[in-house]
Amino acid sequence: MSKKLIVAIDGPAGSGKSTSAKIIAQKLNYLYIDTGAMYRAVTFLAIKQGIMDNPEAIVNVAENSDIRLKYVNGVTQVFVDGIDITKNIRTHELNDKVSSVSKIAGVRKALVKKQRMLKNEGEGIVMEGRDIGTVVFPDADVKIFLTALLDKRAERRAKEYEKKGTGVPVHTIKDNLSKRDALDSSRDTNPLIKANDAFEVDSSKISIEEQVELILQRVKKAAVEKGIEILSTE
Ligand code: DC
Repeated sequence: MSKKLIVAIDGPAGSGKSTSAKIIAQKLNYLYIDTGAMYRAVTFLAIKQGIMDNPEAIVNVAENSDIRLKYVNGVTQVFVDGIDITKNIRTHELNDKVSSVSKIAGVRKALVKKQRMLKNEGEGIVMEGRDIGTVVFPDADVKIFLTALLDKRAERRAKEYEKKGTGVPVHTIKDNLSKRDALDSSRDTNPLIKANDAFEVDSSKISIEEQVELILQRVKKAAVEKGIEILSTE
């Protein structure tokens, strides 16, 4: 079977990771994985089971729950032990709590293990998160670190909420994003940091198309260097 690339896209919330990762995966006909959805699934279960103050119990949930992602029509569907929790993982309560669950070392260990197992032999993958290029796949063929100014990211999230019919004030979103950034970047285990060999893209002033194009240029370069054929992206 011919080799395919591993593309790792990391960065803070609202930097455009999901949007670009989905387009790139579609263009290359690669598997797309949103690892944030897995941290969200564990957080949902912790809230539901009333164990938010018990890290050991949360680790147990992360280790023993069957978390599955299914990407259908542009949406990452999330199932836990066969139950569809897609609609439950992007609430405000959860946004506020997900970083405190994500900082638990045992939770990270369990989810990183699951994430590595999602890469099938001979299949290309575009995985997005906070520690993909640094921890999950340190040997990824392409590493992108996507950033954007906080105001810009909050503005984008506000528009997404508007589309969904849930109006959330920009200042509330901004507050949540900056708290999450601080927690995600300062935690002891696998913090959000740019890998030394990652290519940084600041998406503050460029369009989605330009973002995608910049990432695709890196993908093509890596493919040529490694002698890997990729689909025509024209
Ligand atoms: O990408 P997202 O906003 O849905 O991620 C939700 C939270 O999950 C984020 O605040 C930090 C955490 N996360 C993480 O710690 N590591 C990852 N690889 C992905 C997400």
